[in-house]
Amino acid sequence: MFNIPFFLSLALLLSFPLLFLFVPRLLPSRHVEISLPDELDDLALFRRATLASIGRDAASISRLGDAANRHPKIAFLFLTNTDLHFAPLWQLFFQNNEPLYNIYIHADPSSKITPPGGVFSGRFIASKRTERASPTLISAGRRLLATALLDDPLNAYFAVVSQTCIPLHSFKYIYNSLFFKPISSSFSMYRSFIEILSDEPQLWDRYTARGKNVMLPEVPFDRFRIGSQFFVLTRQHALVVIRDRRLWRKFKLPCFNLDSCYPEEHYFPTLLSMEDPDGCTHYTLTRVNWTGSVGGHPHTYRPAEVSPRLIQELRVSNSSYSFMFARKFSPDCLQPLLDIAEKVIFRD
Ligand SMILES: *[C@@H]1O[C@H](CO)[C@@H](O)[C@H](O)[C@H]1NC(C)=O
Ligand SMILES: *[C@@H]1O[C@H](CO)[C@@H](O)[C@H](O)[C@H]1NC(C)=O
Repeated sequence: MFNIPFFLSLALLLSFPLLFLFVPRLLPSRHVEISLPDELDDLALFRRATLASIGRDAASISRLGDAANRHPKIAFLFLTNTDLHFAPLWQLFFQNNEPLYNIYIHADPSSKITPPGGVFSGRFIASKRTERASPTLISAGRRLLATALLDDPLNAYFAVVSQTCIPLHSFKYIYNSLFFKPISSSFSMYRSFIEILSDEPQLWDRYTARGKNVMLPEVPFDRFRIGSQFFVLTRQHALVVIRDRRLWRKFKLPCFNLDSCYPEEHYFPTLLSMEDPDGCTHYTLTRVNWTGSVGGHPHTYRPAEVSPRLIQELRVSNSSYSFMFARKFSPDCLQPLLDIAEKVIFRD
């Protein structure tokens, strides 16, 4: 004979596993999920870009003479979820350098962005939602790289910038530094300017943010790296990034520890340090000020801080290259920056 309390306990016991199944869905999700259709969409784009680049690289070898007459370009990849406040400053930067660059903008479709005109018009790429502390920023970066690879075989360097970034030099200065400054590397003519660090105190927390052993075997802790997501990659490395499936499988996992979740600061440096460490400088060309940072955000410059002296200070680096870009600047810095653009920023 079974009695009612027994059935109640049994029912409770049986429903316990269901609780685990449903509770995560009932709690409000703080994060944008990468859906299967979005993932497949990206894969198709990456595959198209890979096949086109491989085909074209083979074709261009057979007509080197033709390629020699045409200049390589820098692809500027704008990653944003707000208006491009500094569009007028960038417009001056690009002015009169027409055949030497391309612009691509990935803008979070959920944010209402006023499309900037001039050199930016028509430069928005097919974009998806992005969110801090989630792998969506990696996806956005890869989408930009793939679109730029597909769009123009002359894109030779790929520079990621955000809406809070400004240039610290003229376009010509940056172009000449990237393409004509001799680099001591016996393997390739160009190297990627990407920060790759391994001795940072927060590294273990970042490594275990998705759970203790989940990154294994693809990413052992001693190969896990950290660095800024604002980098300048060569075409060869842009291809490495969009062809990767192995590391992406791990880095796309959601974090349990949201305070240590910055996948975009780890995916690119870890992947490139595994694939081609000698082809990377291990430092970035984008200056950022971490003094007095709050909540993972670096110092944001305000209009009162903008001066010729600040620009000179921000350019100074410990590498053989001067810093080319800087972040973060608040939107109201636009006018003070425009005031010193011709006389200071674009004077080399
Ligand atoms: C970096 O930011 C701090 C404030 O957090 C400021 O005092 C300092 O001057 C900044 N450094 C540079 C080089 O701008
Ligand atoms: C250059 O190196 C020195 C000494 O390691 C360091 O204090 C300084 O912050 C570095 N400057 C930059 C711009 O990274």
